[in-house]
Parts: sequence; structure tokens; C-alpha cells
Amino acid sequence: MEKIIEENKQGESIVLEQSNDGTRKLYIESYGCQMNFSDSEIVASILAKEGFNTTQQLEEADLVLINTCSIREKAEQTVRKRLEKFNAVKRINPAMKVGVLGCMAERLKSKFLEEEKIVDMVVGPDAYKDLPNLVQEIDEGRNAVNVILSKEETYGDIAPVRLNSNGVSAFVSITRGCDNMCTFCVVPFTRGRERSRDPHSILEEVGQLWERGFKEITLLGQNVDSYLWYGGGLKKDFEKATPMQQATAVNFATLLSMTAEAYPKLRIRFSTSNPQDMTLDVIETMAKYKNICKYIHLPVQSGSNRILKEMNRLHTREEYFELIDNIKRILPECAISQDMIAGFPTETEEDHQDTLSLMEYVQYDFGFMFAYSERPGTMAARKMEDDVPEEVKKRRLTEIINLQQKHGLLRTREHLGKVEEVLIEGSSKKSDVHWMGRNTQNTVVVFPKENYKVGDFVNVRIDDCTAATLIGEAVGYSDNN
Ligand code: SAH
Ligand code: F3S
Repeated sequence: MEKIIEENKQGESIVLEQSNDGTRKLYIESYGCQMNFSDSEIVASILAKEGFNTTQQLEEADLVLINTCSIREKAEQTVRKRLEKFNAVKRINPAMKVGVLGCMAERLKSKFLEEEKIVDMVVGPDAYKDLPNLVQEIDEGRNAVNVILSKEETYGDIAPVRLNSNGVSAFVSITRGCDNMCTFCVVPFTRGRERSRDPHSILEEVGQLWERGFKEITLLGQNVDSYLWYGGGLKKDFEKATPMQQATAVNFATLLSMTAEAYPKLRIRFSTSNPQDMTLDVIETMAKYKNICKYIHLPVQSGSNRILKEMNRLHTREEYFELIDNIKRILPECAISQDMIAGFPTETEEDHQDTLSLMEYVQYDFGFMFAYSERPGTMAARKMEDDVPEEVKKRRLTEIINLQQKHGLLRTREHLGKVEEVLIEGSSKKSDVHWMGRNTQNTVVVFPKENYKVGDFVNVRIDDCTAATLIGEAVGYSDNN
């Protein structure tokens, strides 16, 4: 594997990875959560060893893979549209093979091969190491399927190929699967039971990224606070581990401090935190290390205790407020973001008002907000009627989004006049003469380029803002370079 530094048209350095000895071309597209993007990098690494180079050109691909998301119906529709497009290309180039990866592959299994005639291969999230065999099967003209979920697989031994990388920030996955069984959520069915990755392999991957010039990593998991390494195996089997394994287990707070101490100039982020599992220990660890970014993505889904219970979210509104109070006390600078679902079954106007009042209490910096989408097989789909009319869901969602906009602006205004450290990620989408980067709170900061370059830590004076972006001017390098 060779590292190629390319100058793109704006003169930024971007790091691309290519295997030069490959003979076949792989085109891979990813949808959904960060974990899917991270998984695609593992897939690209596994297939590089089989002689596949990645390509950005769909038309020239020998193998097309689509890493899919099932979280909402719309996500699945997007994938189906892409499959239609691949079908059109395949009509011109019948030798091209198409594989479906990820959550839709797991959810629909071999049904995919029957329903979508153009699909040659279906591979679930725990079966990527079987890709060499599966590819051989389709090469020999047979359809191939592996959707077996695993108790151990964490891909800890695979060094991911960084795809579409800016050479500055990268994802490192630390847990796979989820045991929470939120009643609306398909993830526990598509990604299996929760298991954690060996901390040594995590630190090794982080170290490799640091050596290659990366400046920021995001530790990824569906529920990172629940991270627990005791020598392998499922989280739920921890009680069956030996006393020695239990005594030497590594939890998330320890993993965070190990990483922060090993690479004191590397920015460390993590996602996603679940309120029921986030401990004071984690918050205190964040306070202790400057290089752990002061930003917590803390989905709550609803502000109503009754709905939280129906969703099987294992905390109350009051407990969530207690957690928020602790974060604000221990980490006064910390940004907090939410995920919210509007129109969960049985949600009343009063429940919805509870969501708005919870938002008023927290005043989130950002948010990701969705209308409830019933997912086949989930507890909510089996036990509850999707009874909130579509227009009511939409209206409530709009109210939530509008309130978030208002809070976003209140939050960004708090940065005005301050000088903040920004890590430059690339050109601003809207202007070739401005850089785009983020402060520790994960807020996007845009400022004139001058002589700074991608990967620099720069102190930026914040002069202006919108609800989601800070606008400023560099005043010099920060001491983190
Ligand atoms: N713990 C995960 C959650 C993954 S799903 C994480 O790493 O972020 C991301 C978000 O999608 C959830 O927090 C929830 O707000 C939303 N979501 C999940 N299932 C949904 C459904 N059936 N309908 C609407 N939104 C949903
Ligand atoms: Fe889904 Fe809840 Fe896990 S939202 S991913 S079941 S924490």
C-alpha cells in the first residue's frame, strides 16, 4: 500500500491511498451512519488484498458495492434508487458485479437476490472477512450471500484503507452492535449484539493514523459509553468472565484517557453517547484532557417520560436533566447535540410539548431530527400502531427543527468575539478563498485562507455567525501544531 500525496486544484494536500498492484476496479458507495463509512474502509482494505483498486468512476468498475442503511424507510428508498442506476450501467457492461453490504443486506438477506435481480452478492456487517470467498463465488457465476452475525468480530486486525480522506480526521471503531433494543430501532437486528474491540488494536490504529499525519480521530460505536473490553466476547457475557478478566477490564473512560495520554496533540472525539450509559467518569476524563474535544452527541429522542418508556430508553427526563446539569457544571464549554424523533406511536400533543420544553432546558448546539418511520421487525412495529398521522408528524418535526434553529443561533452567538482553536479540514464549500475547520465544540468555522494549510491548528477570532457556522479571521497558529 502506497501513500500518494496529491495537490488538488486549491493546492490542498489530500492523502489518497491506492494499491498499485491491483488489477480490478472497486467502486464503493456508503449511506447512513459514520459506522457504515468506517466499515467501507475495512471492506476496501480486505478487497485490496484481493487485487482491487478503488475507483471514483462507476462506469469503469468491475465490482460495485453499496453499503446500506435501514434506519428509516427513506434511507432504504435511496439505496433502491441507486440500485436502479447500477442496473442501467450493468446493461451496458454486463460483466460488472453488484454487491449489497450493511444493514439492508442483513435485514433483507437473500430476499434481495430474488427481488432485485441485478444484485449478485449480499453481505451483512459481520461477514466482510468472507468477501474473498464470496467474490470468488460471483466470479464463477453463482450468487453469494453471507449474513451471519458474529459474537466476536470487531475487525480489530484489519488496517482500514482511508477512503475520500482529507488526511486530517479519521474514524476508528471501538464497538460493534447494540444491546439497547430501543423499540423503534432496527440496529440491534441488523448489527447484532454488542461487543468491544481490543484496546491495544485501537491504540495501534490510532498510532498509525498519527504517524501518517492525521490530527483528529473519532472513536465510533452505537453506544460508546458502554465500551467494555475484558478479553473478547459479548458485552452481555461480562458476568461470565473470569475474576481476573473482570478486574482488568477496560471501560470507556479508561480507553479515552489511554488514547488522550498516548497522543497528547491528537484531537479525540467520540460518538454516540447514550444517556443511560454515560458516566461521571467519562465527563471528568473529558475535563482532564485538553485534547479530548468538548462535544457530546447525546440523543434523547423524546422529552416525555411516557414516550421514553415506550421507546425502551432506560432513563427518565429528570435523569437526563441531571446528566445535562453535570455536563454543564464539569464542562462549561461543552457543546451538546441531540437526535429527536417526532410522532412515535401514541405521541400526544402533550408529549410533543414535553419534547419542546426539554429542548428549551438544554438549548442544544446542534440536532438531528426525524419523523418516526416504522421499521419491520422492531418491537414498536410488532406491538404498536403507527397512529400519528403523517401531517401531524411533519408539523411536530417542523416545530422541533425551528426551535433547534433558534437554539443553534443562541449557541453560535456565544462564540462571538472569542479566539478559538480550529483544525483546518479543507476549503469552505461556498468559497475557494476560505478554509473550513472545526473548533473543539465541533462547530464549523470559516475564515480567509491566508498562508495556512489543511491540517494546521489555527487560532481564529470569531466575528460573525449563522445558526450553524462561525465566521472569523485567523490570528496565528495555536500551540498545538
Ligand atoms: N446509537 C446510534 C443510533 C443510531 S440511529 C448512534 O450511533 O447514533 C440514529 C438516529 O436515528 C437515532 O438516534 C434516532 O433518532 C433515529 N432513528 C432510529 N430509528 C428510527 C426510526 N425508526 N424512525 C425515525 N428515526 C429513527
Ligand atoms: Fe438503536 Fe437505541 Fe442502539 S437507537 S443503535 S437501539 S441505542
